[in-house]
Amino acid sequence: MSASSHQIRRTFLDFFASRGHEVVPSAPIVPQNDPTLMFVNAGMVPFKDVFTGKERRPYTRAASSQKCIRISGKHNDLENVGVTARHHTFFEMLGNFSFGDYFKEEAITSAWELLTKVYGVPKERLVVTVFKGEGGFPADEEAASLWRKVTGFGDDRILRLGMADNFWSMGDTGPCGPCSEIHFFTGDEVDLSRFGEEPRLDGSGWTEIWNLVFMQYDRAEKDAPVAPLPAPSIDTGMGLERISFVLQGVTSNYDTDLLRPLVERAAEIAGKKYGASQAPDDVSMRVIADHARTTAFLVAEGVMPEKQRREYVLRRVMRRAIRHGYRLGIEKPFLHEVALLVVDRMGDVYPELRERRELIARVTEDEEVRFRATLKRGIKILDERFVEMRASSEGTLSAPAAADLYTTYGFPLDLTQVICAEHGYGVDVDGAEKIIKGADEADGPIDPNAAVDPSYRLAREKLASPVAFTGYEREAGESEIVAIILVEKKDGSDKPTRTLVDRAPSGARVELVVKETPFYAESGGQVGDIGVITAGDLKFHVGDTQRPLTGLVVHEGEIESGEVKVGEKVSLVVDHAARSATRRNHSATHLLHWALRKVLGEHAQQKGSRVGPDMLRFDFAHNKPLTREEIERIEDLVNNKVLENAPVLTEVLPVDEARKRGAVAIFEEKYGDVVRMLTMTQDSIELCGGTHARALGDIGLFKITGEGGVAAGVRRVFAATGKNALGYVRGLEDDIQKARQVAKAQGGDLAEKIGKIVAHERELEKKLAELERRLIEGGGPGGGGGGGGIDAMLAEARDVSGIKVLARRMPDGTQAAALREIAEKLRDKLGETSLVLVGAVDAGKAQLTVMVSKAATGRVKAGDVIKNVAAIVGGRGGGRPDMAQAGGPEVGKLDEAIAATYGEVERLVTA
Ligand code: ALA
Repeated sequence: MSASSHQIRRTFLDFFASRGHEVVPSAPIVPQNDPTLMFVNAGMVPFKDVFTGKERRPYTRAASSQKCIRISGKHNDLENVGVTARHHTFFEMLGNFSFGDYFKEEAITSAWELLTKVYGVPKERLVVTVFKGEGGFPADEEAASLWRKVTGFGDDRILRLGMADNFWSMGDTGPCGPCSEIHFFTGDEVDLSRFGEEPRLDGSGWTEIWNLVFMQYDRAEKDAPVAPLPAPSIDTGMGLERISFVLQGVTSNYDTDLLRPLVERAAEIAGKKYGASQAPDDVSMRVIADHARTTAFLVAEGVMPEKQRREYVLRRVMRRAIRHGYRLGIEKPFLHEVALLVVDRMGDVYPELRERRELIARVTEDEEVRFRATLKRGIKILDERFVEMRASSEGTLSAPAAADLYTTYGFPLDLTQVICAEHGYGVDVDGAEKIIKGADEADGPIDPNAAVDPSYRLAREKLASPVAFTGYEREAGESEIVAIILVEKKDGSDKPTRTLVDRAPSGARVELVVKETPFYAESGGQVGDIGVITAGDLKFHVGDTQRPLTGLVVHEGEIESGEVKVGEKVSLVVDHAARSATRRNHSATHLLHWALRKVLGEHAQQKGSRVGPDMLRFDFAHNKPLTREEIERIEDLVNNKVLENAPVLTEVLPVDEARKRGAVAIFEEKYGDVVRMLTMTQDSIELCGGTHARALGDIGLFKITGEGGVAAGVRRVFAATGKNALGYVRGLEDDIQKARQVAKAQGGDLAEKIGKIVAHERELEKKLAELERRLIEGGGPGGGGGGGGIDAMLAEARDVSGIKVLARRMPDGTQAAALREIAEKLRDKLGETSLVLVGAVDAGKAQLTVMVSKAATGRVKAGDVIKNVAAIVGGRGGGRPDMAQAGGPEVGKLDEAIAATYGEVERLVTA
């Protein structure tokens, strides 16, 4: 039996461990130290700063098996994935590294020994390449002669290639250097003349399996000349999938034990057989296998399929896989099943997969449900188009129509093409692509500096050094005005204009720039400080503090009195109450982040937050609403910490040291070399630039006040601390107090009282419904109702001088309230100009109600009508023009009274 991929990985790491290498676990795929990269795309990325000397580690040799993704940027394999036998979006890179320790000789001998002696790869199947010199860099003669010595190969097997093949760099910037690659021949007869050709469809041919990079240079900026690294170093990379196909004796990576089971699962779900060919079905199954791995690993790291950056890349990958499933005829969501097989097969090596199993399943299935709805919609739109195109004899779907399907409905262009082709139509693909590209760019990431007002740049130029923040320890300070930006709204425009001025008068809206400030400028989710700036007569209210450009802080507000001048010395005082409340909320946010992970699982990572004096809002990865019990456990955890009242420790230290000590680095956030590390007991250690409580007890009561969803897989909680929590509790008390008054409840019997009211209400509703039913069916005990329902009753109405008048008796026992409802209903049904009188015997009394429509009240008033009618039953009544009620003791005369209505109305109208 050939070695399993797990054994191959183990053997690699053991081999280098036995040669003094520290075995370092894979870093997350989401780069932790490099804002220029979307994903970790090589084993060396987590060590980038070690190569350049910025970071020191306790070892100078390391080995790893690193999770990598190549989808975007310089190393982008997406279009080949599924088509070729060798390309992937997700793969594992085995690598050994030397940071200024050994160089070419040991790298070459170790690689050769592991491959040929330990793994037992036959030397006849290998060739190596070296850099031939190009682009101002010399040929790598040293490597060539080392390879000669170590392998015994002649020039026919030590090939010389240029920059494109044998000079490696991580991206546009970063460490780089010449490299040597080891290639392997698959097939019956080793054929040197086929080197450089793509492997054939049967899988035979040459494949690069290991790249040894001799790191010598660093490129600090794109297109800049390189500088030498502090010490020559080694970075090597061997795809686990590739060495596995070599050692497992198969011709495709997709036939290794890493991928074949996933391919088979896709085939099984589709109810088809995998033929390992280039047939479209087989390509689709490979795409699904590959993309399910990327999906599982990225979701496990808290990346969700959304619209921005790497979230969007994940969505594209997932949708590509779903589309291929769709093409295979799979009718129900399926991708999560393949992703779960990834969890099962890789969970031992990458435990984060196991921990986030549930999340991976949910997020994947949700996305597929959504996307399938899109597909359905798109297909429907296309069907409609086909009808139009047939009618107008068009043969090609126009560019705007195809682009609109994509930009408006998210319906992929290639799928549009496939479906159009199936119906015998073409698509203006080039035109559509142009439109889509334009739209993508318009939606794309916005350069934060591009939209900046020029006056901010001018203001920054006036600064000798970046505005220093002095407010961690203090809330007041002295400084000097360096720049004043006058903010004016010109008539008719809602966009303010900004102008740099030397002085500004009382009443002006300005943004003040000072040399150093205790005011915190909004960042990291914490809102800007408020407060006052004063000098002599000057009083300036700071309503917000912002950082529009790196290094520039502006204090926004209005000059209350006096004038402000550049060069003036000013006192700055932060609003103490607001700042304290913000501190409490910010520290509580860290504890909340910890408690969420503890209660829900490690996946509940921060996705965003907003912290100010009166708010604490926190977004995190999770895919279902929090239960009451979870909320209570989270509150308990946080409040227990508060009661411990441990001090909040702040340290300023190098980022790598902070990470080593367990600091949580939030995705997306970029940190400089030196960071602030906030420790709130050993459970919560985070990197954070915000202002914090001095001890956990400062937070006061912590109470979650709301919870909801924001996006697929992202939840949001609101919480209150300190006085805000007190205010929240008081608000609840107020509500209870009011409810008590309304329900006439005393102490603890509020719920009971409300229960009774609700029960009573239900009873009344039932009664009313029953009465309505009887009314509509007509008649009742003792009633003069004529039967036949509401329409029959309406038909009894008579026209009295242009007013529709209906007078009617209702069943005995109909209460006054019900009469009102009935009269109202009948009046509304009768029309705009109408009058209704209904009567019934209830509780031994004749009850009467009159309703008059608005339009008719000008001619006859309800109160007038009832006066004489009520007199017949011995009663008196009155009321408003549109409604009147009366009761009388002479129940025997009720019918007479009712019958008198028509004459009475006539009399009143014509009077
Ligand atoms: N960093 C090198 C590569 O990715 C080893 O090929």
